[in-house]
Amino acid sequence: MTSRHLREIPPYVFAELDVRRAAARAGGRQLIDVGIGSPDQPIAPVVVEAMQRAVSEPALSGYPYFRAHPAFAETVAAYVAARFDVHVDPSTELLALAGSKEGIAEIVLSHVSEGDVVLVPAIYYPVYARAPQLIGALPVCVPLFADGRLDLDAIAPGDLARARVLIVNYPSNPTTATITLAEYARLVAFAKRHSLLLVSDLAYSELSYDGFVVPSVLQVDGARDVAVEMHTCSKSFNMAGVRIAFVAGSARALNTLYQYRSNIGYGVSTLSQRAGAAAFANYSTIVPPVVAEYRARRDAMVSAFASHGWQVTSPNATMYLWLDVPAGYEDWEWVDTLMHGPGVVVTPGIAFGEAGSGHFRISLVQPPAMLAHAAALISECRAHASANVRNGE
Ligand SMILES: Cc1ncc(COP(=O)(O)O)c(C=O)c1O
Repeated sequence: MTSRHLREIPPYVFAELDVRRAAARAGGRQLIDVGIGSPDQPIAPVVVEAMQRAVSEPALSGYPYFRAHPAFAETVAAYVAARFDVHVDPSTELLALAGSKEGIAEIVLSHVSEGDVVLVPAIYYPVYARAPQLIGALPVCVPLFADGRLDLDAIAPGDLARARVLIVNYPSNPTTATITLAEYARLVAFAKRHSLLLVSDLAYSELSYDGFVVPSVLQVDGARDVAVEMHTCSKSFNMAGVRIAFVAGSARALNTLYQYRSNIGYGVSTLSQRAGAAAFANYSTIVPPVVAEYRARRDAMVSAFASHGWQVTSPNATMYLWLDVPAGYEDWEWVDTLMHGPGVVVTPGIAFGEAGSGHFRISLVQPPAMLAHAAALISECRAHASANVRNGE
């Protein structure tokens, strides 16, 4: 028997994409997969060596620390201080997580009750909406301005009165929008005014280009009264399979999260925390080559698209391109056309909410030459599509 709330959750678009991709592969198709944002670059040797050492630690026989291994907490606090000039108390303002996706779900589940509202950006990473739905709470989309800022005045007063949590994500997956500290300050003030917990998902904190440095909400004075921020090793360190992340910020909110987690688990694997500590301890040497590779991929693909006549802006952060679906195509129709035609897998914009419809996302998870090739194949399909539109098909 499936729980009522789980039963009522609409199908997960990424699962649908998986099914279609598997069917295409089963039919013998060779695919260029730029659909899911799963890193393909190797884990840094210094992290691999730390994991190898950790395997023989006697401490592995026992359960991990509930909140965070002291070595992980200390290293992460030092990283947050060096990177953002933010000084958190490692014992009360930090918690280790087995990935930020779980962390976001748990922070929602521990702070929200049935019937409450969770405010999410209109184009959003799916867990923001799915976590509240799991307990009969209501995700409410906040419209976005063209530059990716939230139109807070557009939130209906009734929804605002029931809202407990506001989730934001800059740099954004999938739109690649970024934020300024002044805008974070506006969000912090809004959260204080309306007694909201502000959750900042900083999954792409290190993946930025052209001199842009990603800010943290915790850099805003007083932010830690109302805000928590999710950081992860998945993207910046190519460690998505290791499942290590952390949350920093409001001690009160983290205590609530800790209460929730202590009822259902035993903390994060010591192996993963050792790996995460090695990553954050060495972030200043591990991250630059990762970023250089993504920059080369971005440049190769953006210039290939531009040479085929696309209006494409080069994102200054994340590992994605967010493009318009050609006129005359529905989201899924375009995805299927690319999959069954040239064999390119992309993600439909609808995976990120209704407002994402009319777009598709490309993940920069192939080498530059392959991405340029994929851009040429996608462009051929688009040229064909516009010929069909002209012919009135
Ligand atoms: C915006 C955003 N948040 C969170 C996650 C999940 O990261 P993790 O591997 O830490 O669960 C992703 C992964 O794609 C993401 O894009």
